[in-house]
Amino acid sequence: MPDGKKKKMDKIVSLCKRRGFIFQSSEIYGGIGGFWDYGPLGVELKRNIKDVWWRDMVTGHDDTSTPVGAATPYEMVGIDASIVMHPQVWKASGHYDLFHDMLVDCRTCKARFRADQIPTSPCSRKPSKHPGEHTDCDLTEPREFNLMFKTFIGALIDPTAEAYLRPETAQGIFVNFKNVLSTARVKLPFGIAQIGKAFRNEITPRNYTFRSREFEQMEIEFFCSPDSSQGWYDYWCARRFTWYTSLGLKSERLRLRDHAASERAHYSCGTADIEYAFPFLAEGEFGELEGVSHRGDFDLRSHMEGKLVRDGDILKVELDEHGRASHAGSGKDLSYFDDATQTKFIPHVIEPSAGVDRAMLAFLCEAYTEDAIPDDKGVPQERVVLKLHPRIAPVKVAVFPLIKKDGMPEIAGEIYRELKLKWNVSYDQKGSIGRRYRRQDESGTPFCITVDHQTLIDGTVTLRDRNTTVQERVNSANLVSLIEERL
Ligand code: GAP
Repeated sequence: MPDGKKKKMDKIVSLCKRRGFIFQSSEIYGGIGGFWDYGPLGVELKRNIKDVWWRDMVTGHDDTSTPVGAATPYEMVGIDASIVMHPQVWKASGHYDLFHDMLVDCRTCKARFRADQIPTSPCSRKPSKHPGEHTDCDLTEPREFNLMFKTFIGALIDPTAEAYLRPETAQGIFVNFKNVLSTARVKLPFGIAQIGKAFRNEITPRNYTFRSREFEQMEIEFFCSPDSSQGWYDYWCARRFTWYTSLGLKSERLRLRDHAASERAHYSCGTADIEYAFPFLAEGEFGELEGVSHRGDFDLRSHMEGKLVRDGDILKVELDEHGRASHAGSGKDLSYFDDATQTKFIPHVIEPSAGVDRAMLAFLCEAYTEDAIPDDKGVPQERVVLKLHPRIAPVKVAVFPLIKKDGMPEIAGEIYRELKLKWNVSYDQKGSIGRRYRRQDESGTPFCITVDHQTLIDGTVTLRDRNTTVQERVNSANLVSLIEERL
């Protein structure tokens, strides 16, 4: 990683700790690799990202009209499925057999590496080298390692009680397809959305929260007729790309990259990744934020018939040595009857699958800015500011009394309580006003309101804009409508 980029990433990590966005999990015990805790500001930012996604994709979506670029109106509904599901789900979906990384062990130092990352992984011993480069390194051949976390249901710890923490939220949607179809009375095309935790026993969690072992996904399974599926795939690629730009990611640091056939997951007949140029990557490299996949009828068919294997373009049920399905499906009919054409078919699926933690990391990296602003005497002072989009900013407004007397705290308290009915608002009366502004700049708060001597005379306050630091005097009676307009 170039020096400048590393420095920027180190500063972002330090800001996240200092301001309470992200902490290492179990830090007082030395931490635990691949797990992260979100602090008071982090939890607000993460919640806002999820809320904005849900609002934009589900509740704010107009079921009756055609969105820009879409072929027909469509409906969107949500679910919240359990994390531990019937183990057969993962056998039919292919995760039990196929969701693995190829690993290499070192017999000398007992460390384990992903086979595809050997040239970039550090060996744990000194001097710093890559695995295989010390004279006594003794690497095994690559071996398969399943990424699903195993657990046991009930008191028995034996194979009959084995279950898994879900590695993706998607399967909870597929197994509920019929339930949603019959209860929500939706018709094709329609989408089912879900936000929730997913777990993967990643071999080399790295790059801060980018590759974690516990993370959250925001997934949509969009069901449509086979002949319209390519159009919907194009629609979702464009729709999801513009969602990120609408929240502040610059298009020059984003790209939509089509997967080569060899790179696609076992279920996919077309995938494009939305990728971001994270500062921890080398110049010209991008990291995946979201995958948009054309899953065909793979998932619903697998849950009907059993584990499928791909033979060129054709999907077949995988058979064992006795000619039976290697992993049986549910045997339930998950097909769809189309009233208009009087035909029955298994819907095709387009899946925009986003990571909450990766989106949050990208928004933080994009927002991190260093600039210089003049102090009271006009001398430029360096500052760090998080220019987060107001929709996702953890705190929307901070209210300060200039000093802790002359009735200013009381007026500021009233304003705070009034604004708090609408937004997450912070109140601060500690330290110099300059320091209070700086603290809010680092937290990404778009507006600061200060009650000062003039307020006591005419009821006006100063309203400061985070990005420009421009302060204007406004009537405190108009604050709600003014801020509403600007947010
Ligand atoms: N249902 C499809 C699916 O899960 P994926 O590409 O494996 O596809 C989707 O995951 C998204 O989940 C990724 O684009 C990424 O944002 C997020 N994600 C996957 N693995 C992750 C990890 N180890 N840590 C953080 N986020 C992860």
